[in-house]
Amino acid sequence: MNKAKKSGTTSALSEAEVNKRVDALLARMSLEEKVGQLNQVGGAEFAPGPKAEDQIRKGGAGSVLWLNDTKKFNELQKVAVEESPSGIPLLFALDVIHGYRTIFPVPLAMAASWDPNVPEKSQTVAAREARAAGLHWTFGPMLDICRDARWGRIVEGAGEDPFLGAAMAAAQVRGFQGDDLADSERVLACAKHFAGYGYSDAGRDYDPAYISETQLRNTVLPPFKAAVDAGVATFMSAYMDLNDVPASGNRWLLRQVLREEWGFEGFVVSDAFAVGNLVIQGHAKDRRDAALRGLKAGLNMDMSSYTYTENTADLVAKSDLSEAEIEALVRPILALKVRMGLFERPYVDEGLLDQVIARPDHREASRWAAQRSMVLLKNEGGLLPLKKDVKKVAVIGPLADSMQATEGSWMVFGHTPAAVTVLAGIRAKLPNAEVTYASGPEIRRDIPSWFESMMAGQASKPAQTQEESDAAFQAAVETARAADQVIMVLGETDLMAGEAASRASLDLPGRQEELLKAVAALGKPVVLVLLNGRPLSVTWAAENIPAILEAWEPGSEGGNAVADILFGDAIPGGKLPVGFPRKGSHAPLYYARNLTHSPEESPMYNPRYWDGLPTPLYPFGYGLSYTTFAFSDLKVSAAQVKVGSSLTVSVDVTNTGAVAGDEVVQLYIHQKWGTDTRPMRELKGFERITLQPGECKTVTFELGPDELGYWSTNAGKWIQDPASFDLWVGSDSLATLHAEFEVIG
Ligand code: BGC
Repeated sequence: MNKAKKSGTTSALSEAEVNKRVDALLARMSLEEKVGQLNQVGGAEFAPGPKAEDQIRKGGAGSVLWLNDTKKFNELQKVAVEESPSGIPLLFALDVIHGYRTIFPVPLAMAASWDPNVPEKSQTVAAREARAAGLHWTFGPMLDICRDARWGRIVEGAGEDPFLGAAMAAAQVRGFQGDDLADSERVLACAKHFAGYGYSDAGRDYDPAYISETQLRNTVLPPFKAAVDAGVATFMSAYMDLNDVPASGNRWLLRQVLREEWGFEGFVVSDAFAVGNLVIQGHAKDRRDAALRGLKAGLNMDMSSYTYTENTADLVAKSDLSEAEIEALVRPILALKVRMGLFERPYVDEGLLDQVIARPDHREASRWAAQRSMVLLKNEGGLLPLKKDVKKVAVIGPLADSMQATEGSWMVFGHTPAAVTVLAGIRAKLPNAEVTYASGPEIRRDIPSWFESMMAGQASKPAQTQEESDAAFQAAVETARAADQVIMVLGETDLMAGEAASRASLDLPGRQEELLKAVAALGKPVVLVLLNGRPLSVTWAAENIPAILEAWEPGSEGGNAVADILFGDAIPGGKLPVGFPRKGSHAPLYYARNLTHSPEESPMYNPRYWDGLPTPLYPFGYGLSYTTFAFSDLKVSAAQVKVGSSLTVSVDVTNTGAVAGDEVVQLYIHQKWGTDTRPMRELKGFERITLQPGECKTVTFELGPDELGYWSTNAGKWIQDPASFDLWVGSDSLATLHAEFEVIG
């Protein structure tokens, strides 16, 4: 992990030069203009507040969001630069989460690659396209650790684990920002949502989160810290209450942890309307009080609630705040604009985007990323890969030909779906076969998403009647009956995961399982391809369908990548970044639990539930290949190591099958006793390797104080205990190859 850079400071300009220019700007700005820099105005129809252009003209806006229009960017920038009092350029911001025009797999899928090159390369392309469109700043990466798959936004993060999450966080920051903030092919990144949003009660979006300091420090915050260490320019505060203090007014988070402890020097934007929401949340007395709490907490920019612009002059006039405090909040915003070179190059070339999106390497990168993200969950009897000389293939399911489901959640505003669907990918792969298709009954949310009206091509249609649904069901069964090979494409639509998309169950929605059972009963070979943005409890399928491929929401080239894997042109090598529970009611379920007085394997074993196994259907880190691997010769460099020192762990991994393939070598530890109780397993190292048949590689990991220390409740600080440790290396979180070592004082 890149730990060398200080947040928001990478650029060719020296700190002194930047400070000089910021001082000069501040010296000529009125208080109103300074507050304007703290204001982010909405450029979309639905956004409340005065017209963006009017605010910009009087110097009342530092940034514009929810606008995706290159020509308009230049028009508004011209108003800012030529007509506003101090001529300070705007930052144009948008959620570019997994691609701008070329869509990449959703972030949860990218994490499933267990290869930081995947998010880094993907976000490099996303940044290049977004910047060519005129955007300067994306609201990503989303770094919320989530252990409750009911929470819809699990799709935007890297899953359940802080170690994997930190690696993916740093990689995404590198991808978006590159090495130099003045690079005109990059955008500013934003680490969000700070912090604890993924822990909302029972996975209900926006509900409060109650998280102990030990969980925060050891599990929730590490990806954010990794983003700071990788030089992330901005942060976004979360919506919800964290231990009864809203994250957007949380001085402990925003001042003590982020700035004092971590040395973050960029700026923090609130989540949308979150400063004004401090009133709705029952925290601030009124909007003036909300502004005061946000500003005092160190929240630099108000995303479109206008509480800052409405109240700050009065707060300063009545001495609730000083102008110096306002200036301190404005400084990092101006500094980033200076470092990006926005004063020298405020406009975008309006012809650039067409050239950039035409680059063939962007589509190739998307296909590569999708292939590397997919996880083979089951392959009984080596059914996969399928043979290309198959005569009649039936592709069945409501997602098989859905561009939206293939691209997945969080498209930029105004995006027109343009993905290769699974059906299209299979047809392209098999030009000589007869490929038939039936969607089966439609699936839809019980309660529609408010994003529906905002997404192109998703205007709400009336729901299917029972007769229409039955007819679609029967047509799908008949289509399957006439084929030699059936490929079922089931899961969730793009709007079933994401913001405001939590659900209580993790079952396949609608009649999909019923259809799967009816098709399986035909006795044909059936492969199940899952398109979804969260773990699904596909318990029946896991027992009854011979081959299951988790394809996630794979992006523009998703259908081609699925076909590549199904027909053996690519070998699956992804691993689950989050365990799959057997039931939604088992959430939160995660591998890094503590032992209890009654370990599950003990003779006194008390089952955790009496109505079924509480273990995951598929564990964290799990995924198969078309080949097999053997782990041997596990070596630990020393039986004992002193507190503060490091040891080396090595293992030999051999491809024991007949084809080349990738394995993700994973290292887990368990501290057996200590000042606090530690989880029974924690991931502390991983590496994705490619091995030819028969090839053996030695993989080495280092374990030092960063991996062996932890935040202790009893000590109230970071510590490293002298204690004994178990260690396992293998292909998932149930790895059995074991060793031990001791840390001595
Ligand atoms: C979401 C953020 C997003 C912001 C701006 C909010 O509703 O929670 O993740 O960045 O809107 O679009």
